[in-house]
Parts: sequence; structure tokens; C-alpha cells
Amino acid sequence: MHVLIVGDGQLGSALKQVYTAKPVQITVWAQPVFDITQPAVADQVADLAPDVVINAAAWTNVDGAESNPDGAYAVNALGPKYLAEGCARCGAALVYVSTNEVFAGAPGRSYREYDQTSASSAYARSKLAGEVAVAAALRELYIVRVSWLFGAGGANFPAKIIAGADRLGALRVVADEFGNPTYAPDAAAAIAQLVETGRYGTYHLVNEGWCSRYQLARHVLESSGRGHIEVTPISHKEWQRPSQPPLHAVLVNQAGAALGIRLRPWGEAVEEFCQVEFAWQKN
Ligand SMILES: NC(=O)c1ccc[n+]([C@@H]2O[C@H](COP(=O)([O-])OP(=O)(O)OC[C@H]3O[C@@H](n4cnc5c(N)ncnc54)[C@H](OP(=O)(O)O)[C@@H]3O)[C@@H](O)[C@H]2O)c1
Repeated sequence: MHVLIVGDGQLGSALKQVYTAKPVQITVWAQPVFDITQPAVADQVADLAPDVVINAAAWTNVDGAESNPDGAYAVNALGPKYLAEGCARCGAALVYVSTNEVFAGAPGRSYREYDQTSASSAYARSKLAGEVAVAAALRELYIVRVSWLFGAGGANFPAKIIAGADRLGALRVVADEFGNPTYAPDAAAAIAQLVETGRYGTYHLVNEGWCSRYQLARHVLESSGRGHIEVTPISHKEWQRPSQPPLHAVLVNQAGAALGIRLRPWGEAVEEFCQVEFAWQKN
């Protein structure tokens, strides 16, 4: 099997690690050499003719998308459309990675794969447009939604909490926004497992369980030897930002679990992340 991994951010790097340990051929395409917003990408994919393309390239600056929705749409919808067109021409399958933010996130709700989407921010609209565009171009398609992704080297929430704690000594964290923290290596392994099934469709591959930003921050601090740091829970209304994320876009992994694909509880994943990234061992 020949797997083309597009993008080398948090998820792309984790996918590369997962596939390096498997008896498959891997190609990785990343910026600046490779830009998915170029329509010629369809020809490049068709010429390479891999068996599977996993798109881990994306515009992930959620707040930045508000001031440049065209930029976000180009990377998150047009780029994946070109990849899907290339796949259709060479018979490859595509994994399109999407987000929990495609749901409205009404308080108290959780969302299964079949639930109605309703994207509000510019970022979420671009990701949802990507889901629609790839589905129009290709049948051999996995749409994999993840949430609150964190992994090595990324500018993710746990890393920001640790940096903020070390810089400020105390933190204020939103306590009324909920999601599923998802560890990039766990999501990457789950995606590889899914691809092996050949069962196309929409999946929610998130670590098990959900929490508030405040609960996640507390667990990150405790797991990285910073449990003494004071954290004040605040309302999202006290944390002004250009985009308003859905407050309760909690995903349920029903379709993946039915195939035996489950990710471990998010707390365990956070503990491993802290050990790997910050070399901190529990006594
Ligand atoms: N991060 C989250 O919390 C989160 C939550 C839910 C869903 N997701 C989804 O999960 C997927 C993976 O996210 P991630 O956190 O791994 O993202 P990431 O770390 O930000 O990596 C994204 C990668 O895409 C590359 N990229 C951007 N524009 C590109 C272009 N035009 N052509 C080629 N490559 C381009 C970036 O390159 P540069 O570094 O050079 O810009 C970067 O390597 C994305 O689809 C994202 O929407 C993420």
C-alpha cells in the first residue's frame, strides 16, 4: 500500500510516525514545496497514484479565519477538493480531517456522526465546505472529525496552558466551553486502523470522554508537575476573541466504535503528552 500524507503539522507528523512503523510505502507532501491551494495538485496526486491520501494540511488559525475567510476556504475546502479530484482520477481513497466545530454546540448536546451540521465561524464554515466539496468529488472517502487536537510541537491548548503557567504563575480559563481533547498520535493510529477497514463514511475519532477547557487546564497542570498553579474558572464572555467557538460541540464516536476503533480516555492521553513533551514523570 502507498500512503500519501499531506501536511506535517501535529496530525501529519503523528501520521508519519504511525505509518513509518508499518510495512507500507509513505510519501509526505508539505509546504513550502507543496501547496494544496494550487489546482495542479489534482494532477500531482493522479501522477503519483497512491492508494490512500490522508489530508492533514489545513488552515487551523480559527480566529485568523474571521479576518481572512477566503484564505481559510482556499486551504480547507478548495485544496481538499483538488486532492479529491486527483484521487478520483487514480482510484485512491481520501481521508478528509474535519472538526467538532461543524456543529452548533448547543449547551448539553453531544453529536453523533449522523447529526445535522451547523457551522457558524469562518473556520467552521470552511471546514464544512471542505466536507461537502470532497463528498461531491469522491465516493471512496473517509470524513474524520476530531476535536481540541494536541500533539508534539503544536501551538495547542495544553502547550499554551503550560507556557502561560510558567510565565504568569496563575491563569484564568473558560469553564463553560466543552469538547473532547484528542491526542494527535491516538487520532493518527485510529485513522490508520480505519483505513485498513476500507469502510468509507463519516467518523468521530476523539479520545473518550469530554471536559471543559478549565478541567483540561487543571489536568494538564497536574500532569506536568504544576498542580499548585491557581486557575480561576471564567465564562466565555470574559474571554474576548474574534471567533466564538461552539460551547458544547462534544463528539460521540459511534461509527468507529462499532468497528472496534476506540481511543483511550482523554486524561490518560494528556498524561502521556506531558511525559513525552515535558519529560515530567509522576512520582
Ligand atoms: N488543532 C485543533 O485543535 C483541531 C481541532 C479540530 C480539528 N482539527 C483538524 O485536524 C487537522 C489537523 O490539524 P493540526 O492541528 O495537525 O494542524 P496544524 O498543526 O496546524 O498543521 C496544519 C498543517 O497544514 C499545513 N498547511 C497549511 N496551509 C497549507 C497549504 N496551502 N498547503 C499545504 N499545507 C498547508 C501547515 O503548514 P505550515 O505550518 O507551513 O503553515 C501545517 O503543516 C486539520 O484538518 C484541522 O482542521 C484540528
